[in-house]
Formats: sequence, C-alpha cells, structure tokens
Amino acid sequence: MADVRIWPNADELAAQAADFIISAARDAIAARGRFTLVFTGGSTPERTYALLAQPHMAAQIDWAKCFLFWGDERFVPSGDERSNYGMAWRTLLEPIRASVPMLNIWPMPTEVRGPNQGADLYADALAQFFGLPPHADPPSFDLVLLGLGDDGHVASLFPGHPTLDVTDRWVVSSPSGTLPPSLDRITLTFPVLNAARQVLFLVSGSGKADAVQDVLEGQPLVQQRPAVGVRPTIGSVTWLLDRAAASGLSEQAYAPVV
Ligand code: 6PG
Repeated sequence: MADVRIWPNADELAAQAADFIISAARDAIAARGRFTLVFTGGSTPERTYALLAQPHMAAQIDWAKCFLFWGDERFVPSGDERSNYGMAWRTLLEPIRASVPMLNIWPMPTEVRGPNQGADLYADALAQFFGLPPHADPPSFDLVLLGLGDDGHVASLFPGHPTLDVTDRWVVSSPSGTLPPSLDRITLTFPVLNAARQVLFLVSGSGKADAVQDVLEGQPLVQQRPAVGVRPTIGSVTWLLDRAAASGLSEQAYAPVV
C-alpha cells in the first residue's frame, strides 16, 4: 500500500513537503555526493518552493550539490506566467540564486522550433548529465515531485493519450490535455518516473478528491487515471494530501496524521 500522509491544510502539506525534500537531499548527498531533483509544475507546489526559499530552510540544503530538472513543461517561453520553470524561478531559484549554480539547473527547452525538438534536446541533456547512452535504461532521479490533475494526470501524461504507452523514450511532447492551460507540453515518460528512487505526490484541494480516491482505492486503468502508472521499479511513493484532497478516501484506510 502506498505511504499516504494526510495533513489538515495546504500550508501544513507544504511544510511537510519542504521537510521531505530537505531530508531527501541530505540522504542523497551523503550517499552519492549529489541530489537529483525533478520539479513538478502547476500551482500546488508553489507554497513548498516558497518555503524552501526561506533562509532558515534553504540553509539546510547544500544547493551546490543539487541538480534540478523538470517533470514537464508547457511549451511557452520561460518568462511566460504559465511556465513551470518560470514558477520555480520566481518562488525558489531566484531567491536562492547565490547558492545554486545556474549550471545545476536544467529546464526543459521551450524556445526551440517545437515541443518535439524540445523533448529530443532534453533527452539528450539527460543522457549527457547521467553519462548514459541515449535510449538506454532510464536515469534514476533521487526524487521526483508530482502533482495530480483533477483528471488523474501526472506531469503531462494525460488520460487517453498515446504518451501513456511510451516505453522506448525518456521525454516526449504532448498536446494539451482537457484541463487548462491548453498548451503543447514536454513531459518525462513513465519509464523515467518509475526509475526514480523516490516519488513524492503533492495533492491539495477538494477538486482532487475523486481522482485521489480512484487512484488510491479504485482499480482504474492507466488510460483513465494516469497516476496509477506511477509504480517505481525499486523506488518508494509517498502521497502528501491535505484533508480536502483526501476527503473521498475510506476513513480506516489512511489515518490522518493530525
Ligand atoms: C502542469 C503540472 C501538472 C500538475 C497537475 C496539478 O504542468 O500543470 O506539471 O501535472 O502537477 O496538473 O496541478 P495543480 O497543482 O495546479 O493542481
């Protein structure tokens, strides 16, 4: 059964997520000398990123040994308000820019000819960073952060899309799903998500309750609720939910933490 932790509200969830990331960074750096982190986009993680940017929190991470990637990106310039990289820059990376070398930050390329080219370039960048031949077994990130769409999508892997079936590529382009913003995307694929050492879901709000209940207690197909496709081969999955997002779960299954 997945490790599911329920918190009273979005602020508590964000605080727990920040602590989880700090702990994962410390463990990875102690074990392997570096921490490879995949940021999620959307709005839920903003509180967490802003907390990590606070000096007393940022000081707990050796950012020079952290290497930062994205799980998906909207195909817009980085300065666009809808950019996932732009959101992470505004909330976390700009405030801590003195601590994290720009060479450690690996945004998905969106100022190229198109999302297909951006996906290919990102896959090449991952191969170069991890010292892997392209199309080899996927790299193992230390921690992959994921949100959950109201429709059960993760990253930009949307219900009913052929991207859900990709097994031979690390990064693909995707047309928009049915939820806003309606933009072409670049996304990591399930093979990469499932090679992670740790996956952390950050899910907040009543709009997620149906998808959360389906994914954690139902038997949906990946095509219906893509989040059920997140099944790391050796890694762990932790869900941090607020009470609103967990409101559809059966009481006895997951004792609220507080
Ligand atoms: C994106 C995200 C996406 C997000 C979910 C949840 O580019 O939109 O990566 O997968 O995590 O849609 O988004 P919210 O946190 O805004 O609800």
